[in-house]
Amino acid sequence: MRILVTGANGMLGTDLCEILKDEDLIAASHKDLDITDLEMVKSKFNEYMPDVIINCAAMTNVDACETEKDLAYSLNAEGPKNLALATKEIDGTLIHISTDYVFKGDKHRPLRENDEIGPDSVYGKSKLQGEEAIENILDKYFIIRTAWLYGVHGPNFIKKMLELSENHDTLTVVNDQEGSPTFTKDLSIAIKEIIYSNKYGIYHVTNSGNTTWYDFAKLIFEKKGIDVNVEAVSSEEFAAPAPRPHYSVLSHDKWIKNGFTELRDYKDALDEYLQLL
Ligand SMILES: NC(=O)c1ccc[n+]([C@@H]2O[C@H](COP(=O)([O-])OP(=O)(O)OC[C@H]3O[C@@H](n4cnc5c(N)ncnc54)[C@H](OP(=O)(O)O)[C@@H]3O)[C@@H](O)[C@H]2O)c1
Repeated sequence: MRILVTGANGMLGTDLCEILKDEDLIAASHKDLDITDLEMVKSKFNEYMPDVIINCAAMTNVDACETEKDLAYSLNAEGPKNLALATKEIDGTLIHISTDYVFKGDKHRPLRENDEIGPDSVYGKSKLQGEEAIENILDKYFIIRTAWLYGVHGPNFIKKMLELSENHDTLTVVNDQEGSPTFTKDLSIAIKEIIYSNKYGIYHVTNSGNTTWYDFAKLIFEKKGIDVNVEAVSSEEFAAPAPRPHYSVLSHDKWIKNGFTELRDYKDALDEYLQLL
């Protein structure tokens, strides 16, 4: 089984390649394979002939997507479409990573794969277009919607909180967004599980349990023994450029029903992560 990972130098891509290091693996960075260039994608696929392609490349700066719309759509919608077209030509399987931001976030129960979507942000809309292109082109695909990622190899909320606590006594953190923080190492182990599966489709995969950014920040400082005052603010008060879902906890029912392993609780994953930093 030959596996090609795109966006291999990103936060998830790096952990995923580590988890897959004993497989027949081609780790393609942005420089090696530009997913927005269809001819390049087709030619690299014909050269490598992978059985499975895992797309970790994306534009993930949610706020920047609001102002750099063309780039967001090119990376998050056209890119996956190119990968799907090239995957079809070689009769491969595409595993694509998507996001909880495809949901509006106005429901208050864990969201299922077939629940109504309705992204408000450019990031969410562009990622949704990517999903739709794959579904239209391919039969052999997995779309993994995940959320609130953090890993050792990229900027993330935990690193930001720890960095800010070094020179601030008080931090303001939003308390009206609820989700499941997810360790990229745990997600990578989950992705490895589906590589040899043919139970294609969309799946929701995050660490178990859920929290708000405010409670998560407090937990991080408590676990690290850092004395900093955390003040709760609303999303409206925080006024980030891109709108975010208020509630985007993803249901794991389909994942578990299909025999895949539920990911550990986000608090246990956080413990391991903090040891690694
Ligand atoms: N981060 C989160 O909280 C989060 C939450 C839910 C879902 N996701 C999804 O999870 C996936 C992985 O996210 P991540 O946080 O690991 O992303 P990331 O760290 O931002 O990595 C994205 C990678 O894509 C590469 N890339 C950019 N343009 C490219 C192009 N034209 N062709 C090929 N590669 C290109 C980047 O390379 P350069 O840096 O060299 O340009 C980078 O290595 C994404 O699909 C994202 O939408 C992320």
